[in-house]
Amino acid sequence: MTTSIPPLAGQFQLQDYENTRETFRWEDVHTQFNWYSTGNVNMAHECVDRHVENGKGDRIALRFLADDGRETTTTYAQLKEETDHLATVLAHRGVQEGDFVFVFLPKEPSVYVAMLAAIKLGAVVAPLFEAFMEDGVRDRMNDCEGKYLITNEAFYKRVPRGELPALSHVFLTDGKKTNEAEGIFSLPSELAAGERDPHILRWVSLDSGLNIHYTSGSTGKPKGIVHAHRVMIQQYQTGKWVLDLREDDVYWCTAHPGWVTGTVYGVFAPLLHGVEIVIVSGRFTAEGWYQALEKTGVTVWYSAPTAFRMLMAQGAELTNQFDLSSLRHIMSVGEPLNPEVIYWGQKAFNLRIHDTWWMTETGAQLVANLPSQPIKPGSMGRAIPGITVAVLDDEGNELPRGEIGHLAVQAPWPALMKEVWRNEEKFQSYFPFEGWYVSGDLARQDDDGYVFFQGRSDDMINSSGERIGPFEVESTLISHPAVAEAGVIGKPDPVRGEIVKAFLVLRNGYEESESLKEELYRYVKTHLAGHAAPREIQIVSSLPKTKISGKILRRELKRLELEKLSLQR
Ligand code: PRX
Repeated sequence: MTTSIPPLAGQFQLQDYENTRETFRWEDVHTQFNWYSTGNVNMAHECVDRHVENGKGDRIALRFLADDGRETTTTYAQLKEETDHLATVLAHRGVQEGDFVFVFLPKEPSVYVAMLAAIKLGAVVAPLFEAFMEDGVRDRMNDCEGKYLITNEAFYKRVPRGELPALSHVFLTDGKKTNEAEGIFSLPSELAAGERDPHILRWVSLDSGLNIHYTSGSTGKPKGIVHAHRVMIQQYQTGKWVLDLREDDVYWCTAHPGWVTGTVYGVFAPLLHGVEIVIVSGRFTAEGWYQALEKTGVTVWYSAPTAFRMLMAQGAELTNQFDLSSLRHIMSVGEPLNPEVIYWGQKAFNLRIHDTWWMTETGAQLVANLPSQPIKPGSMGRAIPGITVAVLDDEGNELPRGEIGHLAVQAPWPALMKEVWRNEEKFQSYFPFEGWYVSGDLARQDDDGYVFFQGRSDDMINSSGERIGPFEVESTLISHPAVAEAGVIGKPDPVRGEIVKAFLVLRNGYEESESLKEELYRYVKTHLAGHAAPREIQIVSSLPKTKISGKILRRELKRLELEKLSLQR
């Protein structure tokens, strides 16, 4: 049995876990928002305009570190102006409440401005991950018939315009010229020519659509998970309890808003709390990240196990070159956090790393290690107050503590998804047992209620905390002329958690070779996305299939792979 790590001394925003669990009601949080007294709802108002109205316009909202070393800041007042201005242009060009506005931009302030401007109009914002290539962009944009896209010249090259019949307006943040006939709008010229309406913001309802994130499961193309403005209730509260945010915090969430963590805890939760957000562009390097922490004086940091493992691999010598004394709270999400990483964190930063658990569909954190509570290494923590979780058997009965089963959450809760876009059947599939949302994760709970992650009950792959659907990778592989059949699984990996491994049957006339494998890796990388490309490819003569429907049995591939790994040990 591992021993638990006690909390650090100090006063945290959730001090008494047991008592708060007993007394807390989500309605208690409503009073924190403007709409509680005015009846006027809009996430962007609560994130930005409200702070300006409350005299906090001079505070820094965004601090941007560009990869060329440039550093810029945007105050809350500037963020209000910029989002009003862009929203005015978008409204002039036809964007209305309920429209889908895709945002395909690198990690820089423009992505924040674009998302918030769309939200100001009551549009449903759809941020795309910056690494997506044509297939990834096409499948997502076509699914909800996205009409509007905000992107830049470089990213636009990866948008297959000819295959996107609904797309009518492309707004380029660095476009030279507007060409209305082609539906291309240069934002610099539109902004320069247009007025800025400071009252452009539209009031919506708590149940109006706010954002859509496409997320992968084990079957089919990615599904559009739609969230409503009411998510702010839980995103604010977890920002307080789990992120422990206070007004003078400098906060860095390392995820891109194309992933749900980058939106919820990269944009919404910190802005709801009026803190300073650090944005770091460019690729990961251990040195670059430490520099960013030191230079900006980050106090609260939210990242993922793969990143921590990569930092850990660089050794203490590098860590010790930096003054990281401003850090006071660290969290992790997205994949299992190994106990070794927590022990390393204690040495490297003198702090505990707090694991948190949630999903795109859940809209906010549900299970977490809270700063005031003991951590049991290997556990994701306990259900936050207001949330009840259980471990269920296949029939929906609660299992005794200690037994492994389906991790389920009593539904609903404020941030639960509003719908799966045009897929009611998929939405309903999360609720197979009356009153429970079933996550697809397997877990056990100990007697104190701590939840221990045990894996997935389906074939979803989690590589570096990024959720990858095997079907999407298989579809891209099969579109290559050399591939007849493909079965894709997650193979355990010491750094990335899992890597994508593909088992392929080649078409007649193609021979196995290293150069073909390399070509197929690149093919997925350039058509779908780098993180989804198979780092390992095994050519086989046939794939295991179900007798009746002939579906590829990924479970069997996985079983054989795990067996092979255990023999190698
Ligand atoms: O399997 C769980 C894993 O990530 C899945 C959700 O992925 P996504 O919707 O992309 O959201 C990721 C970030 C919110 C879950 O079903 N996962 C998430 N957090 C953890 C985790 N696995 C282990 N430990 C965690 N803390």
